[in-house]
Amino acid sequence: MRCLVTGGSGFIGRHVARRFHEGGHEVLVLDTRWTPGDPFPGEATSVTDERRLRELFAGWRPDVVAHLAGMADARAVLAEPVAAMDANVTGTAAVLAAAAASGVSRVVIAGSCWVYNAMPVNAVDEDEPFLPSGAGHFYTTTMIAKELLARDFARLHGLESTVLRYSPVYGPGMWPGLVVSAFLRAAAAGGPLTVFGDGEERRAFLHVHDLAEAFYRATAPVAAGQVYNLEGPEIITTGELAHKVSELFGGVPVEHREEPTRRGELVYSQRFVSTYKVRRDLGWAPEIGIDEGLRTQLAAMREEVAAG
Ligand SMILES: NC(=O)c1ccc[n+]([C@@H]2O[C@H](COP(=O)([O-])OP(=O)(O)OC[C@H]3O[C@@H](n4cnc5c(N)ncnc54)[C@H](O)[C@@H]3O)[C@@H](O)[C@H]2O)c1
Repeated sequence: MRCLVTGGSGFIGRHVARRFHEGGHEVLVLDTRWTPGDPFPGEATSVTDERRLRELFAGWRPDVVAHLAGMADARAVLAEPVAAMDANVTGTAAVLAAAAASGVSRVVIAGSCWVYNAMPVNAVDEDEPFLPSGAGHFYTTTMIAKELLARDFARLHGLESTVLRYSPVYGPGMWPGLVVSAFLRAAAAGGPLTVFGDGEERRAFLHVHDLAEAFYRATAPVAAGQVYNLEGPEIITTGELAHKVSELFGGVPVEHREEPTRRGELVYSQRFVSTYKVRRDLGWAPEIGIDEGLRTQLAAMREEVAAG
């Protein structure tokens, strides 16, 4: 199978590309950040370049597309909403249009747990509709638009896609703005670890190896036209995460601070997210718990330092 990974030079995309490669498939990366030194062949092209996308799809003829290109950092999205619409919404429309035109059999789309903020209930499964009043953040709006575009392309062009809505991800290669990365780097520098707000918001951190496996399994026939919620195996508060990381480094100090760029973010405190469907359909369940994930991340950081 030929698998095109958009955003394949990014944090999650690299792991997804590797998983398809390990599965014996041919991988091509499309990412504005791609360079010839990257682990997989690719091209430095924007997903908004519709003409180039159509040429590339017509020439290389991917069977499957894993679509992860886009602006992932909610604070960057808050600062640059127009660029975010371009990368996340226009880019998704262009990928889906090129995929439909070239006979791609499946597009697996990076969605986000942030869309739950556009739902009126605290217990969410994949059938819960979005509120017409929206979710109060540009990032969420782009993620809802991606899902709606996938449905339109399915209905109008018969293009099969699968949306994975996942919780915050961590693991090797994560970008500095992600809280696990920020805490580990702060702790390695002797602290303090800065928790924004009261630290009571809860998250089910998902290890990137588990997520890459979900992208791989999402090409199964049963996943056509489906949306899946994905979460890490346990829910912890940001404050608890800070203390776990602090302890790994012998008890570095933890501080709390208000941060204005965090407004409108996912409120997760009382939410229960059902992951029954992905377990049932794809036999997927997260395998890496937060303690193991943090330990392996710390070991990797130490190896990196030792290697200079
Ligand atoms: N990291 C998380 O915790 C998380 C959680 C839920 C959803 N997501 C979603 O997963 C996807 C991947 O996130 P990530 O954390 O790997 O982010 P990332 O920033 O590491 O990777 C995104 C990649 O997309 C590329 N890109 C951006 N705009 C592009 C464009 N116009 N054309 C081509 N390439 C472009 C970037 O160069 C980058 O390599 C995103 O869609 C993000 O919204 C991430």
